[in-house]
Amino acid sequence: MPSDAPAHGYDFVVVANRLPVDVSLDDDGEPTWTRSPGGLVTALAPVMASTSGAWVGWGGSPDLELKPFDVDGTELIPVVLTEDDLEKFYEGFSNDTLWPLYHDVIEPPAFHRQWWDSYQKVNRRFAQAAADQAAQGATVWVHDYQLQLVPKMLRELRPDLRIGYFHHIPFPPLELFAQLPWRVQVIEGLLGADLVGFQRAGDAANFVRIVRRLTDLTTRGQMVTLSEAEGHTGRGRHVRAAAFPISIDSHAFDELARTDAVRERALQIRRELGDPEFLLLGVDRLDYTKGIRHRIKAYGELLLDGRLSPQSTTLVQVASPSRENVGAYQQLRDDVELLVGRINGDYGQVGHAPVQYLHQSFPMEEMAALYLAADVMLVTALRDGMNLVAKEYVAARSDDRGALVLSEFTGAADELTGSVLVNPHDIDGMKDAITYAVHMDARESRKRMRRLRRRVLGHDVVAWSEDFLAALNAVPV
Ligand code: F6P
Repeated sequence: MPSDAPAHGYDFVVVANRLPVDVSLDDDGEPTWTRSPGGLVTALAPVMASTSGAWVGWGGSPDLELKPFDVDGTELIPVVLTEDDLEKFYEGFSNDTLWPLYHDVIEPPAFHRQWWDSYQKVNRRFAQAAADQAAQGATVWVHDYQLQLVPKMLRELRPDLRIGYFHHIPFPPLELFAQLPWRVQVIEGLLGADLVGFQRAGDAANFVRIVRRLTDLTTRGQMVTLSEAEGHTGRGRHVRAAAFPISIDSHAFDELARTDAVRERALQIRRELGDPEFLLLGVDRLDYTKGIRHRIKAYGELLLDGRLSPQSTTLVQVASPSRENVGAYQQLRDDVELLVGRINGDYGQVGHAPVQYLHQSFPMEEMAALYLAADVMLVTALRDGMNLVAKEYVAARSDDRGALVLSEFTGAADELTGSVLVNPHDIDGMKDAITYAVHMDARESRKRMRRLRRRVLGHDVVAWSEDFLAALNAVPV
């Protein structure tokens, strides 16, 4: 065993920006933890249960220094992020540089050298924490755009490891990626992995093309070959880039939506909304990538044109708070709230607002009830790696009812062929699609929903992680 492998390390280590728990501090500043409902936790639960596993991540509060602790048999290894790291690494480089750049520059990305310095520094901290925990020859799975430099940094520290990386958001075409002043360093960072996974085949193809153009490495199909000099093990190495579309815990969601409590709550929601003839639903983080403005604009025009009646139609828009210190998110909130206020002012009546806007987060049970109550689900993202809300809606509809209007710019659109596909930039097209979905006859919507459910229930998040880890093990090292 090399001296830098810990004597009692873990065989499987996950590295993600956030730990799979939510932290809250009590009045005395003492932390208490609750399990966060994220899909990644469910996906990895079987692997964690069958091996000795650790999860390296940030606890969600600044300057929180905690010792590693155990949750349900998984060792959680907290990484400290200071206020300065949050500003430059998280809000800055991750969410004001990479996020807009990787989402088709819907908002202009900001390039600041101090943010890049912070990104390198924090990535190094995560890499070191993983290197300190992994056993000799362990598998380490690194997640997402906040940690793209970790694979290379980790391989330099621990060449004995098998390293996988999964990219949860879109990977842009060369023509956009090339704007990044540190583009070569990011690509080299990712190439530290043995397997680089993406949501769609198109993302993987973008990555391979960028490797070809920005490095002198050889690529063949999904494989990149590093020469002896580049292989840190002292010989050539292969990196595979491929698509592994993520999913949700479909069966658990299906079961939840079948419970009496959720069904009763769904009926109650409709009653409380005044029993609308048509209930439309949008559920998003309040993010400019989600196309919330475009969707509400289309809905407002349908009311204006008289194609939907404001008395008998309601749009419920859940917009959960997100990244509230980033300027573009503050601007978006103002824009959306202005739009909602105008529509409700123009078309509302005493006791009835055509848009029910909720800037809040809700527990899973309430979300399942909303999905079950809605006649039409609107997912109109301008760009989205996958969009799990679309899959949740489908998993909740064991009654085979309801219609899904889905943006063609989501990863989910590649799989969910029973949906009504839209281009959210085309407001007239979206208005037609919403009208079509609202009036879809029961036979057609049942047929479409069954098709959607076959896909979502047939490929859940556990299957996703198994596929990825099997492929990671199969990469020749
Ligand atoms: O989609 C990418 C992602 O990082 C998800 O993993 C996460 O749920 C979401 O964006 C919000 O992330 P955060 O609150 O950590 O910025």
